[in-house]
Amino acid sequence: MLSEITVSTSVPAGIGAIGMPVASEGPVPKDVGISRTALTAMGFEGKCCETLVLPPDKSKSVRILVGIGVPKELNEQVLRKIAASLARAASKYNSLATSLPMVGRFDRKRSTQIVVEGICLATHRYVDLKNDKKSAANLDQLTLIAPTAATAAVKAGAASGRTIATAVTRARDFANMPPAYLTARKFADHAVDIAKATGLRATVYNRDQLQAMGCGGIVGVNQGSVEPLRVVKLVYSPRNASKKVVLVGKGVMYDSGGISLKPSDASHASMKMDMSGAAAVLATMSTLKDLKCTTAVTAYLMCTDNMPSGSALKLGDVLTMRNGKTVEIHNTDAEGRLILADGLSLGVEQKPDAMVDIATLTGACMVALGKKMAGLFGNNDAFIEQVKSASERTDELVWQLPLFGEYRKMLDSNVADMRNIGGPVAGATTAALFLKEFVAEVPWVHLDIAGPMEAEADEAWLQRGATAFGTRLLIDLVTNFKKPVRRK
Ligand code: BES
Ligand code: MN
Ligand code: ZN
Repeated sequence: MLSEITVSTSVPAGIGAIGMPVASEGPVPKDVGISRTALTAMGFEGKCCETLVLPPDKSKSVRILVGIGVPKELNEQVLRKIAASLARAASKYNSLATSLPMVGRFDRKRSTQIVVEGICLATHRYVDLKNDKKSAANLDQLTLIAPTAATAAVKAGAASGRTIATAVTRARDFANMPPAYLTARKFADHAVDIAKATGLRATVYNRDQLQAMGCGGIVGVNQGSVEPLRVVKLVYSPRNASKKVVLVGKGVMYDSGGISLKPSDASHASMKMDMSGAAAVLATMSTLKDLKCTTAVTAYLMCTDNMPSGSALKLGDVLTMRNGKTVEIHNTDAEGRLILADGLSLGVEQKPDAMVDIATLTGACMVALGKKMAGLFGNNDAFIEQVKSASERTDELVWQLPLFGEYRKMLDSNVADMRNIGGPVAGATTAALFLKEFVAEVPWVHLDIAGPMEAEADEAWLQRGATAFGTRLLIDLVTNFKKPVRRK
């Protein structure tokens, strides 16, 4: 992460690289010092995200041209990607100065926030466990060049951009950490530290407490594990808040499948990321005070391993969840919904105006939508629309899938209120229908992030590895939240 972002009216001396936005039409800015014809001859057309590094000018700074296409056609999503390409091209240098936040027709606070997000997110890498840290970007100092009239807005945008990007990179680090480095206990300790530093109240629950509270889902999932479980409740309560949201995150620290063991396959190394939902929720919570969010938010991080052992859950076992409903286990690998059932039940008791759960829940959702978007399910159209707008503004893509009631019968059990898996089809929907049993009448959205939890390659503002998908979406959602009209 950048250690410093400053705002200045001109490029200070001694900067490593100057990032110069160049449009695909109209005159080339004077300080580039090269004609359009010459640029075209070098293969640089000014298209969005194109970059060209030019040798140092008199000031000894390398100049990096970055294409912005047709300025009046620029949108926020493209601007964030342009900032990311500039940062990648500049990542060798220690310091970068750029006027990129000043391009296009944007509110300058907003464009600055977006540029800072793009730059920070495209250059962060989890290198804690590498002896050779070279794969991390050198970029440490950013100077944003803006005229005096825009200085205040640019400073404000830089501050929110930095708060948000810090949260996202922290969530990525958590998800990238090996399972032994981030057990439920260690994650809960981190959450308590982060809560202290960011103005949240934190309460940590252990197994005996959860058992006494009737949280049979998470206690059941944990019973095969040597490593204890933790539930962390985080509360953000701004003064005079008149609206309240609950967030629930799936925190499966490692998902082996339990006795329904996943087959041996290298891809299961990414099951250390099965806590990505909880990481996104924790990261979101950490920004709210800084961003002066006016909505009260209560979060539940539902943290445990899912392991096979002599004491593990068996198929046919029946668990009683926090809201009293009983669930017959037909596959111990469908563990996420069991722990979310308790989290959502606890959430309902807070009487929120809306509730969101975020979870790496089903391979089926990833098969349906791929790795670039999350599945969205919900029971309230007005609230679903709010989540979709947050998704558009943050460019964290979601696609709505049906919460189709007729499939509820696939979850019918002979002995309990329901079983924990459906049939061979519509797996993302039956998982969502399962969760719906625990949200009562609260307007609710479920985000299935199994696909986008991990990126295969460095692309735009994503870095290969954990993405922290949903963090920016949730921050945007709760900071812009309006009470949805109750459906019933
Ligand atoms: N954590 C997995 C889902 C997952 C798969 C996340 C791939 C990220 C990438 C979840 O707990 C799981 O195992 N789901 C099962 C459910 C099935 C047993 C009904 C699945 O999708 O196979
Ligand atoms: Mn599983
Ligand atoms: Zn899982």
